Amino acid sequence: MNIKRKLSFIFVLCLTLISLLSGCSRENENTRDSEEKIILGFSQIGAESAWRKCNSLSIQEAAQESSIQLLFANAEQKQENQIKALRSFIVYQVDVIAFVPIVADGWDNILREARDAGIPVLITDRKINTADENLYAGFIGTDSEQEGREGAEFLIKKFPDGEPVRIVEISGTEGSSPAVGRAAGFREVLADHPEFSIVYSASGDFLRSKGYELMKKVLKEVEDIDVIFSHNDGMTLGIIDAMKEQGIRPGKDIVIVTVDAEQAAIDALKRGEVNCVIECNPKTGPAIMELARKLARGEAISRLQHVDEEVFSEYDDLSDIPPRGY
Ligand code: AHR
Repeated sequence: MNIKRKLSFIFVLCLTLISLLSGCSRENENTRDSEEKIILGFSQIGAESAWRKCNSLSIQEAAQESSIQLLFANAEQKQENQIKALRSFIVYQVDVIAFVPIVADGWDNILREARDAGIPVLITDRKINTADENLYAGFIGTDSEQEGREGAEFLIKKFPDGEPVRIVEISGTEGSSPAVGRAAGFREVLADHPEFSIVYSASGDFLRSKGYELMKKVLKEVEDIDVIFSHNDGMTLGIIDAMKEQGIRPGKDIVIVTVDAEQAAIDALKRGEVNCVIECNPKTGPAIMELARKLARGEAISRLQHVDEEVFSEYDDLSDIPPRGY
């Protein structure tokens, strides 16, 4: 072989090798893309409470850590905004949709659209009422009925002597599964204890401002209140403010049971201004990402996954509760 032919042979060989190598690495990239770069469309309710902000952060951080591309939509407390967001995820052809249903009713049509588009749907935090359970793949989140039961169990321990106990309930967003579930679980346990009566119940929409306003009204209209059962800590903080303005000692003159376990409620429990705090766990981001990955791979997930939750009360040693982070 003369020198010219030798050089051109080496040149062709190099080109072939380069193209083979680059083809190979692109193929690897494509494989990684299809395995890992899942697109998850997530519709969040809004930012009504410290709990909710922590829940959103948990989801956003977990998506980043597991390199899932997250399309995050904040519905600003409107179901219609959530439906629009879900529809846009369908048009975008995301791999998986997850959402927190602000209220339990009214999802079947949009869920049918997702099913027709072949997109699996994960429901989280709040549950839905549906005519067809197969419209979504599964649920992960809180057990609201159990939270209500825990609240009632605490009261049975707190008031053991059978004297009448008058309860005011400040509930969450009307028609939302945590409001319905907490109310149902609470009543279920108290049904066997006729000394307890719920003398007033109204919705404070899970908002601190509404908890405050409602409590001012309640203190004018309802006599001899022994207990407040508040469906979330945000409202409880407003309730405490309203009590203090009237010279009422929260946690002493009126017993307070609250749900969420935000740092502020735990601090109030330690000060004796709240008597029982039932945890509602907002840190579901990592579990949601794991489930989204399974769904994107076409795997089945469990229909119902409740997260671990604790109860903190005045009967416990409160000295070593780790910082709550919300
Ligand atoms: O759905 C969970 C509830 O929603 C939390 O208890 C409350 O704080 C939040 O806004």
